Amino acid sequence: MSKYSSSSLTFAIVSFAYLLLLGSSSAQLSTNFYSSSCPNLCSTVKPVLQSAINKDKRMGASILRLFFHDCFTNGCDGSLLLDDTSSFTGEKTANANLNSARGFDVIDNIKTAVEKACPGVVSCADILAIAARDSVVLLGGPNWSVKLGRRDARTASKSVANNNIPQPTQSLSALISKFSAQGLSAKEMVALVGGHTIGQARCTSFRGHIYNDTDIDSSFAKLRQANCPRASGSGDNNLAPLDLQTPTAFDNYYYKNLVNKKGLLHSDQQMFDGGSTDSQVRSYSNNQQAFFSDFVAAMIKMGDIKPLTGSTGEIRKNCRKIN
Ligand code: HEM
Ligand SMILES: *[C@@H]1O[C@H](CO)[C@@H](O)[C@H](O)[C@H]1NC(C)=O
Ligand SMILES: *[C@@H]1O[C@H](CO)[C@@H](O)[C@H](O)[C@H]1NC(C)=O
Repeated sequence: MSKYSSSSLTFAIVSFAYLLLLGSSSAQLSTNFYSSSCPNLCSTVKPVLQSAINKDKRMGASILRLFFHDCFTNGCDGSLLLDDTSSFTGEKTANANLNSARGFDVIDNIKTAVEKACPGVVSCADILAIAARDSVVLLGGPNWSVKLGRRDARTASKSVANNNIPQPTQSLSALISKFSAQGLSAKEMVALVGGHTIGQARCTSFRGHIYNDTDIDSSFAKLRQANCPRASGSGDNNLAPLDLQTPTAFDNYYYKNLVNKKGLLHSDQQMFDGGSTDSQVRSYSNNQQAFFSDFVAAMIKMGDIKPLTGSTGEIRKNCRKIN
């Protein structure tokens, strides 16, 4: 081979590798990102979260949901954690979050502990990713290695949150579009929404489903109607579990409920309503391992949505404020 052709081959290979790196911004996240800068990170996060969950079992669900809403709003960049400022209206008052998103104080407590151990090193976006993973594990779900190296946004957007976060009144096809806009398939959506195996919803989120929909078990509808009045404005914040059987255990009962027409939200029952996702729901309802392994893969992929890396963004000192 001539010298000319071998060096141009090398050039071609190097350029191709470089383009691959540029093409996927998530290439820079890694499971060992803090192994030298904050070796005790995970053992710092876990006990703070554990004590919050011991006080309030629902908290694991609330933290998992924060991660989902953060990732769907301009990527997993901690933007959801920012309070409003004079220069932007943040995400906490977006429709899906107002009177609903909770656990911000727990994230603050974790951040305080992490800042003590490794000042100025670990992003709020990564803390949320670790806390979401640990919440799943502490409630009995699968464990996995979280990819890290995200940096924190310096802004937040209520309007993007309103546009991107799926709504409980939406149809299967509309829900698929919301996930597809984030690079997630219908199959990944069905696995991720299994997060509804834990946690609670307000009457205002499921009223339409229990009074107006026909794809619901009638005795289950009556049970939920007992604590969720038909008239909007009354009992709006009354809670019911998303998984009626085991609301504080991360398992596959969510899918068993759907097969029995006992999904709490309209959007939940859309996953098993005679459409293209029915067979996947049925399969998870019979096979918890299949659900767990698909959930883990989809969580890792969701965690890869548009992270800020390198020198973009910042490492916030306080998760509620930009530095
Ligand atoms: C199909 C799209 C989804 C829709 C329409 C949806 C909608 C909702 C709604 C309306 C609530 C109740 C909020 C309230 O009434 O205060 C809720 C709660 C929750 N969602 Fe979703 N969700 C979806 C997907 C997901 C995903 C992908 C995850 C996580 C991987 C998730 C995790 C949770 C959790 C854990 C709760 C309970 C939170 C708590 O108890 O504090 N959801 N969701
Ligand atoms: C999950 O596994 C990791 C090791 O990969 C460990 O550091 C972490 O503490 C585990 N999470 C929980 C909640 O046990
Ligand atoms: C049920 O449907 C009727 C007719 O479309 C509508 O007026 C009403 O607001 C709905 N009720 C709920 C609780 O969504």
